[in-house]
Amino acid sequence: MAEVKRINVGVIGTGWVGGIRANACAHNGIVDELHIAEINPKRQSEIQAETNPTSITDNWQTIIDNEAIDVIVISMTPETQRYPILMAALEAGKNVFVEKPIAPTIEEAEQAYALADSKNLKITIGYSRRFDPRYVYVKKSLREGLIGDPVTCLVSRHSTRELGEKITGRSKMSPTSIGGVHDLDFVLWCLQPRKPIRVYSQTAGKLFSKKSDTPDHQWVMVTMDDGTTVTIGVGWILPIGYPNYVQAWIEVIGTDGALTIDDTHKEVQFNTTANGIRYPLSSMPGEPIDHVFAGSMYDETGHFLEAVAFDRPAMVTREEALTVMSVYTAADLSVERGEPVVLPRNDNTNP
Ligand SMILES: NC(=O)c1ccc[n+]([C@@H]2O[C@H](COP(=O)([O-])OP(=O)(O)OC[C@H]3O[C@@H](n4cnc5c(N)ncnc54)[C@H](O)[C@@H]3O)[C@@H](O)[C@H]2O)c1
Repeated sequence: MAEVKRINVGVIGTGWVGGIRANACAHNGIVDELHIAEINPKRQSEIQAETNPTSITDNWQTIIDNEAIDVIVISMTPETQRYPILMAALEAGKNVFVEKPIAPTIEEAEQAYALADSKNLKITIGYSRRFDPRYVYVKKSLREGLIGDPVTCLVSRHSTRELGEKITGRSKMSPTSIGGVHDLDFVLWCLQPRKPIRVYSQTAGKLFSKKSDTPDHQWVMVTMDDGTTVTIGVGWILPIGYPNYVQAWIEVIGTDGALTIDDTHKEVQFNTTANGIRYPLSSMPGEPIDHVFAGSMYDETGHFLEAVAFDRPAMVTREEALTVMSVYTAADLSVERGEPVVLPRNDNTNP
């Protein structure tokens, strides 16, 4: 039997999502050594017990300095402190899987891609919806013209306030830049080669504004260069239900048909006298159930490991990453100005 090429991986930050990534790496046959950097001692011992890593440290620099490591997964938070780690990893010659957002600004994202290109390294971003078969079906249907010419696409997504509080507590980012970004990436990916030319966005907030400077919800309308309209709404104040429950409703309407995805996770109901109805398997990152995983993160993580091991293309391209960034930064600017923003931008504010 031919030898399988194996690679060594370092995961930085093993909270909720990084914990899933670390487990996905530990279970993946092409991973030889797994190294972990995690600053929370309790989380360190949990992840050590789960994944039996080759090494574990509280200093991410130790992982970056390890010459044997081929791939770094950056899942630590707050998001605003991630960019120096990304650049250090690339500088050290590592291929990088980074959770969104890749960088605070488009300019910094471009610098990261330039550095990766100069060293022949791969970058991908954790746009996990691209690994959900129902979402990929939309891409395939549009590519094959199954619903004719697209006319309008809508994604409405809401998560619990429990998750909203966690996200807004760690960094001041808009609902679109931290949550809606997944749906923007998904819709823009499906609509390729069409390009976004105009963005209008509004926020609303009556709950979180009592404690922080963050809205409860953001709507974004995007006009594509062929006239297709895109509407993405993201909110994070649903009442507490199943931990980190997320519901989404998707409509893609075309000249010859329509696609609707009910991603509201009502298919598994767990009803107890103690807690009433709960919806297991309903969080965005998914969850392990014995020997299987509910969600797309295992496949997504494995895809990048294989891209590195077998020199295949990473899932998210530089152009796609920068286009998504240009739309969500334009959306936040539109909120600030109260008017539509034209793309490509020809001003230098808020890049
Ligand atoms: N793709 C998806 O569907 C999806 C869903 C949810 C969240 N996310 C993204 O995943 C990322 C992680 O989110 P999370 O909910 O797992 O966060 P989290 O807060 O649960 O985990 C972050 C972890 O990083 C650790 N950490 C912080 N600073 C560190 C450092 N300097 N070195 C090493 N470890 C450090 C923390 O101790 C914590 O365990 C976020 O960027 C989030 O936006 C993606």
